[in-house]
Amino acid sequence: MSQPFYITTPIYYVNDVPHIGHAYTTLACDVMARYKRARGHEVFFLTGTDEHGQKVEKAAQAKGETPLELADRVVKRFQALWERLNISHTDFIRTTQERHKKGVRRLFEKIQANNDIYLGAYEDWYCTPCETFWTETQLLDGKCPDCGRPTEKLKEESYFFRMSKYQQALLDHIEANPDFIQPKTRRNEILSFVREGLRDLSISRTSFSWGIPVPGDEKHVIYVWFDALTNYITALGYPEDPQGHFATFWPVDAHVIGKDILRFHTVYWPTFLLAAGIPLPKKVFAHGWWTVEGQKMSKSLMNVVEPNMLVDKYGVDAIRYFLMREVPFGLDGDFSHAALVHRINSDLANDLGNLVSRSTAMVTKYFRGELPAAEVQTEVDAAFSARFPAALRTVDAQMNEMAFNKALQAIWELISAANKYIDETAPWTLAKDPAQSARLGTVMYNLLEGTRLIALLVNPFMPDTARRIMTILCGSGEDLTFAGNDNWGGLKPGSQILKAEPLFPRIETE
Ligand code: ME8
Ligand code: MG
Repeated sequence: MSQPFYITTPIYYVNDVPHIGHAYTTLACDVMARYKRARGHEVFFLTGTDEHGQKVEKAAQAKGETPLELADRVVKRFQALWERLNISHTDFIRTTQERHKKGVRRLFEKIQANNDIYLGAYEDWYCTPCETFWTETQLLDGKCPDCGRPTEKLKEESYFFRMSKYQQALLDHIEANPDFIQPKTRRNEILSFVREGLRDLSISRTSFSWGIPVPGDEKHVIYVWFDALTNYITALGYPEDPQGHFATFWPVDAHVIGKDILRFHTVYWPTFLLAAGIPLPKKVFAHGWWTVEGQKMSKSLMNVVEPNMLVDKYGVDAIRYFLMREVPFGLDGDFSHAALVHRINSDLANDLGNLVSRSTAMVTKYFRGELPAAEVQTEVDAAFSARFPAALRTVDAQMNEMAFNKALQAIWELISAANKYIDETAPWTLAKDPAQSARLGTVMYNLLEGTRLIALLVNPFMPDTARRIMTILCGSGEDLTFAGNDNWGGLKPGSQILKAEPLFPRIETE
């Protein structure tokens, strides 16, 4: 039985249209999901949309639509973008779906039955954009300490979750599981937050109605974060689990999120789960924040990067590569067109593109595309082929750490080594001497075999490109799993290699 692997993106609010920040998280999860599949895991990869709450209700009002009309419209934009970006999710959950609403009510009731929900009254400052309550002392100059926008004072009857009761259990869990919150800086942040003390949490609202009614007290709707976080289990079929997904895939291997929503995922969500007696996530990984040309992305600045436009202009794999390569996963980064064009020209057109076009052009020219056998091996060849098993191990270790940029660096070292191998062996010189024909054949074999293994490694990041390379080398780009394919010697001498069209055209710059 293959090992299950479950990975999730946040579910995105439908009051905003998808931009490069949403694409980044979803892409990282896709790369991980593809990698794990290629390693033989049974993968459940979940994404979706967060459609309830005051923020969505207000956005719909402003547009003269019902919240569901707004959601139906915007959800299509997310789904269309994921298709364009080659996102391979298993399921797409919407919080307005019945399967979700039912599961949220059941989780609420379960926690209530455990005596961890009580009715109280609430008076605090609410930031609608963040859907978060703040105490007077938490405010900065009367503004939301997270986003700096104005807050409003709200007093309501509210159901409370006894979060304070779980402070010690949560601390113990974080301390006993060093990998639970990543990267380490985020873990430390949460540790000190929890040590300062947890208050009980308001988990219902009466001031608006766009949400899931509290079971048995329908003038309340369930707090949008309680509702949203529960998607991670309702998508698996919690609580009935008709397909056995919950039993197979929970606890989740990785919740991947942006650092903006760390506290919800590492304090609220785990304490809800503790109260319901459900095992905690294995890992929450919070990545950093993208700015654009040095500035915060915002609708008012009109600098929101629209991923569809980037795909139109540069192609999907170039965007996938850039986002995963440019910034270490976990740190903040800046998106600039100059950096993107530079990466495309140097890493993709020059390094990878040239490797594929040079090697296939040579085997076409010298052997009419018929792959020779590697019969005359020298030390140079042995050193070249020996790099591959080591690099496969390095990439595996980096991928398990979600160090995508380091995994790509290791792959690009192989690409450089392959280009250097061409220069060192100088096939064009060997080709002039008929006595060196077996030696030339050996170089050709090693080069194309190395390229095949590079395609295998590149596949989770750039699936279209990997498929194209494999089709050129093997006539088919279907099987890109590691097992059975990741040993040196997979290409069969005598097979026909096709001549490659350029994979990545250079982008002209002024
Ligand atoms: O918070 N840089 O949804 P949301 C990097 N519905 N990542 C970014 C980004 C940027 N500039 N902008 C957005 C919500 N993101 C809730 C989540 S989950 C149970 C509920 C990404 O639409 C990043 O992953 O505001 C961030 O956490 C997420 O989008 C926030 O999306
Ligand atoms: Mg947000």
